[in-house]
Amino acid sequence: MKTPTSKHLRETENRHLTPGLQNFAILADRAMKKGRGSKLWDVEGREYIDLIGGIGVNALGHCHPKYVARLKQQLDELTIGSFTTEVRVELLELLAKVLPKHLSRVQLYSGGSEAVEAALRLAKSHTKKWEFLSFWGAFHGKTMGTMALMGSTAKQGLGPFPPGNISAPFANCYRCPFKLKYPSCGMLCAEFTRDTIKQQSSGALAAIIVEPMQGTAGNIPPPKEWLSAIASIAKEFGALLICDEMITGFGRTGTMFASPEVGVEADIMTLGKGVASGFPLSMLACRAEIADAKPFAIPSGSSSSYGGNPLAAAAALASIQTIVDEKLVENSRAQGEIFLARLQKWKSQFDFIGDVRGKGLFLAMELVKDHTTKTPIAKEKTESLFKAGVEKGVLAMTYAASVRFQPALSINAEELNRGLDLLEETLREWQI
Ligand SMILES: Cc1ncc(COP(=O)(O)O)c(C=O)c1O
Repeated sequence: MKTPTSKHLRETENRHLTPGLQNFAILADRAMKKGRGSKLWDVEGREYIDLIGGIGVNALGHCHPKYVARLKQQLDELTIGSFTTEVRVELLELLAKVLPKHLSRVQLYSGGSEAVEAALRLAKSHTKKWEFLSFWGAFHGKTMGTMALMGSTAKQGLGPFPPGNISAPFANCYRCPFKLKYPSCGMLCAEFTRDTIKQQSSGALAAIIVEPMQGTAGNIPPPKEWLSAIASIAKEFGALLICDEMITGFGRTGTMFASPEVGVEADIMTLGKGVASGFPLSMLACRAEIADAKPFAIPSGSSSSYGGNPLAAAAALASIQTIVDEKLVENSRAQGEIFLARLQKWKSQFDFIGDVRGKGLFLAMELVKDHTTKTPIAKEKTESLFKAGVEKGVLAMTYAASVRFQPALSINAEELNRGLDLLEETLREWQI
């Protein structure tokens, strides 16, 4: 039989799937066949350097041999069910070694939104309160509860959402809502968060939920003291602090987790993406003293059909063990520095790059019309940049003015340099 073409597969798929696939998959308009490390090949055999990395899912690189072997072994043994298994116990013991020590209880799920929903249930169960504060630009998922926390226009047309949500500006210094400059701003945004709670809460704040560095909003690290200021505010109001480390966790930002790095102890941490390198596994980790709260803790209260099933547990075990054994956190930091240095060079060369930022392999640049007004470059233009990159053989989220990069934590110098060279070539030839 003839190998199907990208065109044929895309057209056939489009007849069945609802619209709304991830934007880069629509714009790339290619069907992928094979992946190794940070390289992908489409069905026509064209090679791509993957700087998207499944938006932070790809920790080990595509089809890492240890990951493949562990999953194959598990497929032959047992795949379904919530019973205790040796593999899940092994995973939990490994998690106990890598998680911050105070987060000694975990529960396993299969999607990010599901883990965040569980964190909200746990916070309500423990505090007996029901309000949540989230941040402008926040993304915590697409279920109704998590969309209520969303700080963007993406939720428009989908309300009403559960009541009790309050929001305050994130410390996005490049686009400071107060038009101030850090550090002379004195972190007014944190003060404003405190005032927002005073003005808007009915006195029932269960938790503040925060991405230690915002992902969907454009891979934005806040100033280093901001998160601890937010943690103190949560304490002041008797609320828990939920750090949503779905994307920043497991080495993405050059440290195992982002919140402990700035001295913050979350009460609950939500994790996913890179934890199982592509297998749908997510989780929450919490302090032992809150884990027993009911109704979260009653039998079947915190569980789900797929969470921690043997196959998922094997994937997470192989992923985390390999992150540790192959020093991928260190690699994320080292390759991230090289990547950021290149972005900084581009910023000095190209007028349309207004800002570059990031930590580890969690990086971004902002495409603007000019440095003074910081007006974002129009969507059609950025989409043309993405498509030009695809033609050259580099996959990067350049289709929005806020460009995000999160390649596999395992990316090596050859893959990274090739990807960056292709991207630089694309930027040079781009007509804005
Ligand atoms: C910080 C954060 N939380 C939650 C989610 C939702 O995860 P999922 O898409 O697996 O539901 C995401 C996804 O991008 C995320 O970045």
